[in-house]
Amino acid sequence: MKHLYDVPAPAKLNLFLHVTGRREDGYHLLQTVFVFIDLADRLQFELRNDGVICRQTSLPGIDHDSDLIVRAARALQKATGTAKGATIQVQKNIPAGGGLGGGSSDAASTLIALNRLWQTGLSRWELQQLALPLGADVPVFVFGQNTFAEGIGEAFTACRVPGHAYLVFQPRLGIPTPAIFTDPDLCRNTPLVTVQDVQQSLSLPISEASSLSQPAFFGHNDLEAVACRQHPGLQQLVDWLDVRQVKARMTGSGACFFAPFNSYEDALQVGHELEVALPAFNQGASVPVERIIAARGLVRHP
Ligand code: C5P
Repeated sequence: MKHLYDVPAPAKLNLFLHVTGRREDGYHLLQTVFVFIDLADRLQFELRNDGVICRQTSLPGIDHDSDLIVRAARALQKATGTAKGATIQVQKNIPAGGGLGGGSSDAASTLIALNRLWQTGLSRWELQQLALPLGADVPVFVFGQNTFAEGIGEAFTACRVPGHAYLVFQPRLGIPTPAIFTDPDLCRNTPLVTVQDVQQSLSLPISEASSLSQPAFFGHNDLEAVACRQHPGLQQLVDWLDVRQVKARMTGSGACFFAPFNSYEDALQVGHELEVALPAFNQGASVPVERIIAARGLVRHP
């Protein structure tokens, strides 16, 4: 029996994100494609037999009991009745408030790892049910495959995404998700697309219009217009990239943007060119760019 688990918690990107309606409880109905990338937090779980959940190195501003990792561990304890506990260490690499799902991914990796460490034997589907009350984005990280998602983001159809690479632009700005979803200007009636539309668009060859071997984007992100209106500095970033023929899109409710590339080498090369030009952009920017991250798409994660 293993006493120690060390697992990655990868970030996600939303290749597109359409808001197609709103439920009575205020949550929004979405259509989106989640892809996972190799930018990841690392979590380590050590078995305890006293039932205590001890989260070391906590995040600034988040108390122990409201930490999503702790809440995920307690939800699994409650669902299974196990008397076991864990000491948990986290190495954060995914920026918070970026639309990259870092907190949700940590919670999902906690459910998966502790289910193994405690030998509680829940199926992935059962873990997904435990995940949803923790946050709308947690179940997809338990699902663990690139997917077309519907509902509030919890109904999945796994889809094949080519082995793209990405540049992720991290602005010096964190956006709280509710600030975007509650904005009266948010478009909430984007027409539905089918999974066939999505799958076909993902298998299309490189856009001929692109000079940077960037794949064409499907759809759009309805949350992007709202985020750019609330934070005009984000639109400045999009325009700056556009002038350099880099088509970027926001992920989730922001504030990070990403640009897809057909190969990691292309992403690295363009990333280097942008790094050189970045100080000049940042000097005049109301929202400077903190980091440009080159990442590979993952086919599957634990
Ligand atoms: O579920 P989670 O805590 O991640 O969601 C944060 C907030 O984002 C919710 O309180 C809600 O305002 C908004 N949200 C939404 N529709 C979704 C997902 C999130 O309105 N599908």
